[in-house]
Amino acid sequence: MKPATVLFALSLAVTAAPGALAQDSYQRARNDYLLHCSGCHGQDGIGNPAKGIPQFKNQIGHFTRIPEGRAFLMQVPGLLSARLSDDRAAAVTTWIIREFAGPSLPEGFQPYTGAEAKRFREARPADVIGKRNALYGELLGLGYRFEQ
Ligand code: HEC
Repeated sequence: MKPATVLFALSLAVTAAPGALAQDSYQRARNDYLLHCSGCHGQDGIGNPAKGIPQFKNQIGHFTRIPEGRAFLMQVPGLLSARLSDDRAAAVTTWIIREFAGPSLPEGFQPYTGAEAKRFREARPADVIGKRNALYGELLGLGYRFEQ
């Protein structure tokens, strides 16, 4: 092949690679998590329940089972104060769920969209902790288990 043909073939390969873009946004979400969230929530999503930082691992997915719970995950102060764009806020929250939910991930979980990020963040409840406790109780009542 002539160099020009090789270049053309390469550019086709790059544009066509289906995973390339997904990989970039996955990396960016991971970096956002490490930079803005892991200081409190831990690289492994274990948090620090004794200090009031809830564990993500194996339980965060339960919240997405009910609409208010899905919204709540984007209304927490840590996400708001990181001031990420709607798309990045959606991506980091989706990343947390995919990475840490484990068996709590409901079948058919849909990634968060930027439009949801905007809507949920604008409609945040005044009492986020009260909201969390209410959702937690509701999910326990539905039979979902939390480790803490
Ligand atoms: C300064 C410490 C701190 C940082 C940084 C922080 N969080 Fe949190 N996060 C908390 C605390 C404390 C809670 C529990 C109270 C609450 O629900 O607001 C919490 C709760 C949460 C919850 C709800 C989990 C549950 O089980 O209730 C999510 C989701 C969350 N944070 C996401 C994030 C994301 C995303 C970031 C980074 C963009 C982040 N947090 C950064 C301290 C932090």
